[in-house]
Amino acid sequence: MKLHKQDIFKALESISVPGEGKNMVESGAVKNVVTFADEVIVDITINNPTLQAKKKTEVEIMKAIHEKVYEKAKITVNVKVDAPAKSLANSIKGKAIPGIQNIVAVASGKGGVGKSTVTVNLAVTLAQMGFKVGILDADIYGPSVPIMFDVEKERPMAVNIDGKSKMKPVENYGVKILSIGFFTQPDQAVVWRGPMAAKALNQMIFDAHWGELDFMLIDLPPGTGDIHLSIMQSLPITGAVIVSTPQNVALADAKKGVAMFQQESINVPVLGIIENMAYFTPEVPIAIGMPENKYYIFGKDGAKNLAEDLNVPFLGHIPLVQSIREAGDIGRPAAMQTATPLQLAFEKITQNVVEEVVRRNDDLPPTEAIKITTMAGCSAVKK
Ligand SMILES: Nc1ncnc2c1ncn2[C@@H]1O[C@H](COP(=O)(O)OP(=O)(O)OP(=O)(O)O)[C@@H](O)[C@H]1O
Ligand SMILES: [Mg+2]
Repeated sequence: MKLHKQDIFKALESISVPGEGKNMVESGAVKNVVTFADEVIVDITINNPTLQAKKKTEVEIMKAIHEKVYEKAKITVNVKVDAPAKSLANSIKGKAIPGIQNIVAVASGKGGVGKSTVTVNLAVTLAQMGFKVGILDADIYGPSVPIMFDVEKERPMAVNIDGKSKMKPVENYGVKILSIGFFTQPDQAVVWRGPMAAKALNQMIFDAHWGELDFMLIDLPPGTGDIHLSIMQSLPITGAVIVSTPQNVALADAKKGVAMFQQESINVPVLGIIENMAYFTPEVPIAIGMPENKYYIFGKDGAKNLAEDLNVPFLGHIPLVQSIREAGDIGRPAAMQTATPLQLAFEKITQNVVEEVVRRNDDLPPTEAIKITTMAGCSAVKK
């Protein structure tokens, strides 16, 4: 059976684009159609970044071609998300940082569970999806983003914007980065007190030229301390992503992290929980035909169950694999290796995060920076 391009286009004309009153071909969503014997490849671009929208489009295209052209056609649909949907915008009230649409904090409670690893992989995946992304590395105790992005020797340059000198974030892999690590020596221990750290962070936020960003990701230090409060006072956070391993001690701290964001005086929406180091998979078994070899060293589904208990979304599992650690150390995030199981895992998680941001922006009013003066158990940093 030989398929013809014009028949495919005709079938695609039967699919309407919601809200536009046009079909998929008229709206310009179909970028390319290639046919070869009984195979067809359709490249399309949509501007709704949710996973449901992508899935729905794929299913509609397959159905239309199977029903109207050839029921046994082998179809590949490549969906690219173009301009961010309206719901991605305006989650921030006021003009605190013009041009930045969404600020997502990555937090954990316990240290070493993979916040920085998750942040850098989310960032490159978002960039690959076509979003404009920046990372603010706010870990004053151990800034790891410069190493994980292979930019540890670089320093931000100064640029003149409307007569004012501003810091230009360092850029790699399509992501803009500012880190406390750019302003300290690698072997220098940072023993800053809260107010000093808050000042440095404020400079990286307000004295920097970030330009237009769909997402600014903030890699937070572990814990629930002064830095967290001062960031939430400085910035209107769209939502927080909590990273945890399935282990009990990590879960207890993750719970505290969720509770911190959900406190009435803070009230930052929790976008969901990511389970990192969900199971160990040796990479060799794939080669010897045992790809499903999973060892639940830290317990099974702990973070997933916690998400259910706390009634917050579960965003996905990330396995413990040597290549994630190696990728972090050489400064090329694991999610950049295309079509690997890891890249697919990060892609799914990133889509879930985007979906939760969209949902949050649809359901809740824009965020404002919080105003705290004192809080039980911790003294907040006054500006
Ligand atoms: N899924 C994973 N598989 C393998 N190694 C991982 C994984 N996640 C994180 N690691 C490694 O574990 C170590 C700790 O991860 P990471 O620095 O991301 O944690 P963190 O929560 O940011 O730590 P900190 O609290 O110190 O900021 C790093 O060496 C990282 O490469
Ligand atoms: Mg870290």
